[in-house]
Amino acid sequence: MKHSAYLRTAGFFICGALAQVDVPPNFTVGVPWQIIIQNTLDVTRPLQPTNVTVWDLDLYHIARNPNTVEYLRTNNPGTILVCYFNAGLAQDTDCDYDTKWRNSGLLGNIYDPEEPEFNNERWVNIKNQTARDWMKQRITLANQLGCDGVDPDNIDGYLRDADGNNGTWWDLSQDDYVSFVTELATHAHSLTTSQSHTMLIGQKNARELVGRLSGVLDFAVLEDCKRLREPGEPAFCRDFQAYIATEKPVFSIEYPSTLGDPETGACNARGVDDTEYHNSCDTIQDTAGFSPVLKIQGGDGELNNCTQYCTGMVPGTGVVVTATNPELDGIDCPPGATEY
Ligand SMILES: *[C@@H]1O[C@H](CO)[C@@H](O)[C@H](O)[C@H]1NC(C)=O
Ligand SMILES: *[C@@H]1O[C@H](CO)[C@@H](O)[C@H](O)[C@H]1NC(C)=O
Ligand SMILES: *[C@@H]1O[C@H](CO)[C@@H](O)[C@H](O)[C@H]1NC(C)=O
Ligand SMILES: *[C@@H]1O[C@H](CO)[C@@H](O)[C@H](O)[C@H]1NC(C)=O
Ligand SMILES: *[C@@H]1O[C@H](CO)[C@@H](O)[C@H](O)[C@H]1NC(C)=O
Repeated sequence: MKHSAYLRTAGFFICGALAQVDVPPNFTVGVPWQIIIQNTLDVTRPLQPTNVTVWDLDLYHIARNPNTVEYLRTNNPGTILVCYFNAGLAQDTDCDYDTKWRNSGLLGNIYDPEEPEFNNERWVNIKNQTARDWMKQRITLANQLGCDGVDPDNIDGYLRDADGNNGTWWDLSQDDYVSFVTELATHAHSLTTSQSHTMLIGQKNARELVGRLSGVLDFAVLEDCKRLREPGEPAFCRDFQAYIATEKPVFSIEYPSTLGDPETGACNARGVDDTEYHNSCDTIQDTAGFSPVLKIQGGDGELNNCTQYCTGMVPGTGVVVTATNPELDGIDCPPGATEY
């Protein structure tokens, strides 16, 4: 049964009809979550944790291992599954890379010359309609696989192109990304999920765009918004209070240095030290209402199975290791996933 409180108006008109977003009842401010995009969940082992509602997992891990969806819903019937995909770049592990992107002329420079580990990811010309349509097909795929929403990453390529420095190769502006993401949102909101709600779509980082996207999108996912990992850079948690103010969840990730070993991904059972715990977990005015997780800083451990929660606000508690299996990450894509 729909309750009117869960019907949000996106506040803009599409073809004369006011877009209405029917949000799952438990998708509320402060809802607990988990994010794992490094490795694939191991569905042969018990699900941990079972007390989080929202799971943010890689779209193409789900495409390759579609039984993950049933695993989550069986172990935790209230699961809201958000599927992560790279909206700003294409990479050779994407299921649609060979069928669409590789020889398309739509790929520009690598992600960042200073981060060579990501040199298989290239900035997409998101001004081009074909590129937009292909990204929308990823949302269609997510919908068909049973995802309840999408987390489109890397919508801040304009930062690379600031001052005409040709970082992406495409001279992309904030306007270009607002137009692109708004088009993705219109498409997501036109879809109904397997759980009979509107397909949700979030904002990933890109603080400069909050004013123009928070009325259009349904949640936000932030990395290092307190700037604990990159001290000296301006903190940007506060900008996302615009989402909280309109009852939309903000999922924040902090990357403390003492949670685990970046090389092996091994998790410290007692979690981070007291100082990092408080720096990462303490709610300040800027982070009021956020849903925080702590993740290992860097390497193969980053955004993987080692997580510390802030629930209870007691250092040394809240560490959870989710069962994952890296051997499942790169198995063949099913034919359907290469078409969408
Ligand atoms: C929603 O949350 C409430 C309160 O936490 C819980 O009792 C209920 O089972 C949840 N519903 C679903 C569908 O997860
Ligand atoms: C967009 O990219 C496609 C594929 O490379 C190309 O055929 C098309 O001409 C491009 N559109 C524009 C307007 O440049
Ligand atoms: C843009 O960057 C590419 C790759 O770094 C380079 O080959 C090209 O010459 C640059 N274009 C301009 C207009 O600077
Ligand atoms: C979930 O339960 C684990 C114990 O299994 C606990 O450590 C963690 O803090 C809980 N997480 C949330 C978000 O409540
Ligand atoms: C967690 O991931 C690491 C790699 O980052 C792996 O070595 C470890 O076996 C995984 N733990 C579980 C419980 O799956």
